[in-house]
Amino acid sequence: NKAANAFYRFPLVEVRGVPLSNWIAQNWSSIWTFCPDPSDFLISTYPKAGTTWTQEIVDLLLHNGDAEICRRAPNIIRFPFLEITSPPPIPSGLDLIKTMKPPRFIKTHLPIQLVPEGFWENKCKVIYVARNAKDNLVSYYHFDRMNLTQPEPGSLEEYLQKFMKGRLSWGSWYDHVKGYWKEREKKNILYLFYEDIKENPRREIVRIMRYLDLSLSDDIIDKIVELTSFKVMKDNPMANYSFIPNAVFDRSISDFMRKGEVGDWTNYFTPAQSQMFDEDYARQMADVDIPFRTSI
Ligand code: A3P
Repeated sequence: NKAANAFYRFPLVEVRGVPLSNWIAQNWSSIWTFCPDPSDFLISTYPKAGTTWTQEIVDLLLHNGDAEICRRAPNIIRFPFLEITSPPPIPSGLDLIKTMKPPRFIKTHLPIQLVPEGFWENKCKVIYVARNAKDNLVSYYHFDRMNLTQPEPGSLEEYLQKFMKGRLSWGSWYDHVKGYWKEREKKNILYLFYEDIKENPRREIVRIMRYLDLSLSDDIIDKIVELTSFKVMKDNPMANYSFIPNAVFDRSISDFMRKGEVGDWTNYFTPAQSQMFDEDYARQMADVDIPFRTSI
């Protein structure tokens, strides 16, 4: 019932060729003209690549591993989501940012060409997290089934087609990961992989720490590894999205903290789908050599 519930599957509207929810598209001019403070940070991902995980790591690094402080508020409040615009009374990402003092850790799913230019002009630090296409697709598929503001995903076969054509919210996975990859050196972007964090969280947490110009003791780093494990985060109400009502995230369909594994795609792709996907992938990724891993 759309009238009774303002949250329903919002249609996608293209902004400079990138499909975004109609709410974001309507608000686009204020998003595009947003200017961050030079001390602000950006955490950017294609949806479902490990945003929430990276946010928790960053927050704990900034607060010297203090779990209590990092439970001060739900992650959507701790990390304003730049472009998110929802029906009232939910505050927009921009409104939330205005209430916070820099440095702010801003989340975005925008492809690099849609990131407001102030981030580059002000030389803000940017952390990008990428996840292999097949696991990213499976995770996004489950998310689109349960997040009732996202377009209807249809069958997995239909979803595969939409993913390959870039017809999902925030557009093409291929363009997204390539866009940031090509600019990572020039723009000093820390480019991380979900699979690397899963394989060796300590090593990647140390990389993030150094990028943020922080220096924490080994004990604290070990503690952060533990606090940001899938098991601990799944039970952390300030990180696991349990504060989003069931009318928006339908948990009878799927949980936000779903599985947190590398290689779950093998449980979903048929051999024929995998082959078709790989052939298309080789064509779409021919111009780059990004070391994605579909297993670890
Ligand atoms: P799955 O659906 O494969 O389980 P995002 O935060 O970008 O929306 O990404 C969500 C994905 O990251 C989900 O993947 C979620 O389970 C996974 N994730 C979240 N926290 C994690 C953690 N601590 N360790 C591993 N995966 C995590």
